[in-house]
Amino acid sequence: MFKRHAMLPVIVLALCTAGAVSAGDIAPADIEYKDGRWIEQPLTDVAGDPAAGRKVFVNRKLGNCLACHVNSEIPEQPFHGEIGPSLDGVGGRYDMPMLRGMVVNMKNALNPESLMPGFYSLDNGSRTLEKFAGKTILSAQQVEDVLAYLQTLK
Ligand code: HEC
Repeated sequence: MFKRHAMLPVIVLALCTAGAVSAGDIAPADIEYKDGRWIEQPLTDVAGDPAAGRKVFVNRKLGNCLACHVNSEIPEQPFHGEIGPSLDGVGGRYDMPMLRGMVVNMKNALNPESLMPGFYSLDNGSRTLEKFAGKTILSAQQVEDVLAYLQTLK
């Protein structure tokens, strides 16, 4: 007979790997910063995929970027927060090393008091969920995908 809880370990495993560092990824502690803020080197060997990045951006359990940012490129989502600046045209305002530095860790890049979580930092902010303690909120590939998406916002 099929037992309902048989799937549980599989689900737990899937959740645990969400922000894990994979082979080929640069771990948060090994990131090299330019001017102490910006990050020139991609975090993975695999180029970012803007379509995947758009999904991470929207997903309330991953980037949840719309909680704090307006983005006119995503009109199908009803609520866009205004805690941070609008991201319309952001790909034209910043180059890739700057965008990477900000998404990896805004507190390090621009504003030590920022409300924006550090998406690829082990110190991702006291306002962040406890389940992320010791893990990054996004995987290295998810960050690169989000960055590829941000670059399309011109
Ligand atoms: C809890 C709120 C919050 C969330 C969630 C958030 N941000 Fe931010 N973001 C901010 C704030 C506040 C700023 C302004 C910088 C500062 O803190 O001084 C900012 C600034 C930025 C900037 C610079 C914009 C500019 O024009 O200067 C980028 C790019 C950015 N965020 C991207 C993202 C992305 C991508 C996500 C999702 C992966 C995200 N943010 C999630 C609050 C947030």
